[in-house]
Amino acid sequence: VDLQPLHTFGLPATASDLRLLSSAEDLQALAQARQAGQPWLLLGEGSNTVFVNPQLNATVWKVALKGRQYLGCDGVHHHLRVQAGENWHQTVEWTVAKGWGGLENLALIPGCVGASPVQNIGAYGVELKDRVSAVHVFDLDAAETGVFSRDDCEFGYRDSIFKRSGQGRYVITAVDFALPVKWQAVLGYGDVAKCVEQLGAITPMNVMKAVCSIRAQKLPDPVVLGNSGSFFKNPVVPSGQAQELSALFPALVHYPAGHGLEKLAAGWLIDQCGLRGFERAGVGVYQNQALILVNLGEGSGPALKGLIEHVRATVMARFGVELEPEPNLI
Ligand code: EPU
Repeated sequence: VDLQPLHTFGLPATASDLRLLSSAEDLQALAQARQAGQPWLLLGEGSNTVFVNPQLNATVWKVALKGRQYLGCDGVHHHLRVQAGENWHQTVEWTVAKGWGGLENLALIPGCVGASPVQNIGAYGVELKDRVSAVHVFDLDAAETGVFSRDDCEFGYRDSIFKRSGQGRYVITAVDFALPVKWQAVLGYGDVAKCVEQLGAITPMNVMKAVCSIRAQKLPDPVVLGNSGSFFKNPVVPSGQAQELSALFPALVHYPAGHGLEKLAAGWLIDQCGLRGFERAGVGVYQNQALILVNLGEGSGPALKGLIEHVRATVMARFGVELEPEPNLI
C-alpha cells in the first residue's frame, strides 16, 4: 500500500496493508489482530504522522467513523458529539455556520476530529481542552468502548494521556464538545484582533475568517507543499535559562509557561540561525515560517531525518536549547 497520499508530508513509503475502521466490527477486528500480535498503526488524515522510514511492516488502520450530532443545550453550553473520522476544519465550519462559537480560533488546522485530543491541538489562544467535555474510545485491551472525561485526558501543551500511557491502547472514536452559549471572542494572540476589526463585527464567523487568512499567509497548504504544520514544539525551559538567553539575545521571543518556566518560540530560534528558506535534498525549512519543514516534492525519509538533525544541532549550538519534533515520526 502506498503511504505517500495518506500523510500530508507526502514522503514515499509503503505499508503491508490498509484497513478502514468504520464500524464496531472493524474495531473488534483490530483488537483481534493486535491480540494475535500483528503489527499495526492507527492513522487519521495523516497530518501529524510522518513516514520517515520508506517501508512499514505493519497494517495501517485508517479511522473512518463519520457523523456529527447536536446533543442539546443546558443553558450554559451547546453539546455536540462528532465522530473521529470527520474532518476537523469542516467541523469548525459547521459549528460556526450553526451559530455555535468556540472553535473558530482552531479553524484550518489539518487533520480529523479523532486526532485533535491526542496532541491537544491549539492555535491563537485556544486549545482543544478548553472546548472538550469527553472523549469516547475503544479500549483495545478490553475490546470494549469507554469514555474519558476532560480531566481523565490529562491535557497539556500539545500533550494528552493518549500520547503517553494510553498510546497503543485506545482508539478515539468520537469527541464531545461543550461550546459556551455566552460566547466571547479570544482575540489576544498576535494579529487576530486587528484582522477581525478589518472584517467588521466581532462574531465567530469573522474570527474564523481572520484566523483562516492569517494561517493562509504563514502556513503552507499541504495540498500544494507537503508539510505537517509546526514541526517542532515550542521548547519550555526554566525561567533562569530564558533570562540568560534574553540577556544575550534581547529580541528573544518568550512567554511565561507557569511554575517557573518559560516557553520559547522555536520558529524564532530557527529563524535566527539563518535557516528559514534553507533547502537540501528535496526538503527544506519553509520560507514564511521557520517552524515548518516542507517537502519540496522530491523529499525522502532519509533526507528529512538529515534536515531534522541539522536544525536541531544548529539551534543547540547557538542557543543551547533542545528542539523536540512535534509530529509522530514513523
Ligand atoms: N517567528 C520568527 N520567525 C519565524 C517564525 C516565527 O521570528 O520564522 C516568531 C514570530 O514572529 C512570533 C513567534 O516566533 O513572535 C511565534 O510565531 P507564531 O505566532 O507564528 O507561532 P508559533 O509559535 O510558531 C504556534 C503553534 C501553531 C499555531 C500558532 C498560533 C506550536 C508548536 N505551534 O506556532 O500550531 O498555529 O502558534 O497559535 O505550538 C501546529 O502545532 O502545527 C501549529 C501550526
